[in-house]
Amino acid sequence: MRVFSRPRPLAGLDLGSSAVKVVELRRVRAGFELVRAGLEPLEPGAVAEGAIEDPDSVAAAIRRVFSRNRIRSRKVATSVSGHSVIVKNLALPVVSREALEESIQWEARQVIPFDLSDVHLDHQVLGDSSAGGDTRVLLVAARKERVANRLEVIASAGLSPVVVDVDCFALQNAYESNYDPGSSVTAALLHIGAAVTNLVVTRGGIPLFTRDLPAGGNQLTAMLQKQLGIDFEEAERTKKESAVEALEAGPSGALLQSAMETLLLEIRKSLDLFEAGAGGESIQRVYVSGGCSELAGLTERLQSGLDVPLEPLDPFKSIAVARGVDEESLYQQAPSLAVAVGLALRGFHD
Ligand SMILES: Nc1ncnc2c1ncn2[C@@H]1O[C@H](COP(=O)(O)OP(=O)(O)OP(=O)(O)O)[C@@H](O)[C@H]1O
Ligand SMILES: [Mg+2]
Repeated sequence: MRVFSRPRPLAGLDLGSSAVKVVELRRVRAGFELVRAGLEPLEPGAVAEGAIEDPDSVAAAIRRVFSRNRIRSRKVATSVSGHSVIVKNLALPVVSREALEESIQWEARQVIPFDLSDVHLDHQVLGDSSAGGDTRVLLVAARKERVANRLEVIASAGLSPVVVDVDCFALQNAYESNYDPGSSVTAALLHIGAAVTNLVVTRGGIPLFTRDLPAGGNQLTAMLQKQLGIDFEEAERTKKESAVEALEAGPSGALLQSAMETLLLEIRKSLDLFEAGAGGESIQRVYVSGGCSELAGLTERLQSGLDVPLEPLDPFKSIAVARGVDEESLYQQAPSLAVAVGLALRGFHD
């Protein structure tokens, strides 16, 4: 007897600097269903500035997050972010296919600040822009060394990485699948993590602007650690148990306020930068996710400096939840899982 088995979907594996996140989905008639998801904290310093410094402890955390959450898939989609990834939107005069390839290579040499032999280069033609008849091309370069570093650790955890994406695109994917926004809404997605804040402005499935800001929850933790003379774990706990107002009223209030203001200012500056270069296109809505967005009062603070409505991104808005999943813990982790959801969805793309 022959047994036909359907290939298992890919698990979305987000290797952040503070935690490893995993999401497994399956296709159901009405769309997608969450089968399992989970999060496993990493030792401080195990991942620093996007590079895996302690491969053994990261591999152990990956194994744990798979076994504790009974993730069955062994094939994963993962991602990279930060300064080892460069994303550029190019507008090139319409030319033949071969000439386009050549002109992309030429442009890449101009705009990628690394030796091209040191990067994986990929591009996607986004179609003709209405103005001037240029061809719009999305160019992505990722440092080979950084990608290899991740793939080795994932392989050493017994998994096979089959897709390497970029955090911002995974985030965009999670948004589009859940919100089905059509082509008339220009939205900014902000994923505020520990070391990096991913920002993508998107409309009609096209990333108009992407940026990874080197800022996130770590800065607030470091500030508390220094000011209160406590260790990292204790500072993390203090931060998570407090709200923005309480932190600002505490002994290191003024410094924390300035760390928070720096983060918020960076975000606002980037949104302004997009609008300044967007030829009249303005952001209509901001969606926020990432672990740091859970800090009580942070999104309100962010909203107060913006003219457009802001709301938390729900990465499970249109995704059903399988029986047996602990919904309370899932919704608690949801803000941190947005990138992992976008990665898991990659497995269903043709
Ligand atoms: N309930 C909470 N309140 C306040 N901060 C929180 C809370 N939960 C998580 N955080 C903070 O969110 C950050 C982790 O977020 P996230 O998991 O999105 O980051 P990451 O993906 O591990 O890191 P990276 O920035 O490298 O992508 C940490 O700084 C953590 O302290
Ligand atoms: Mg992250």
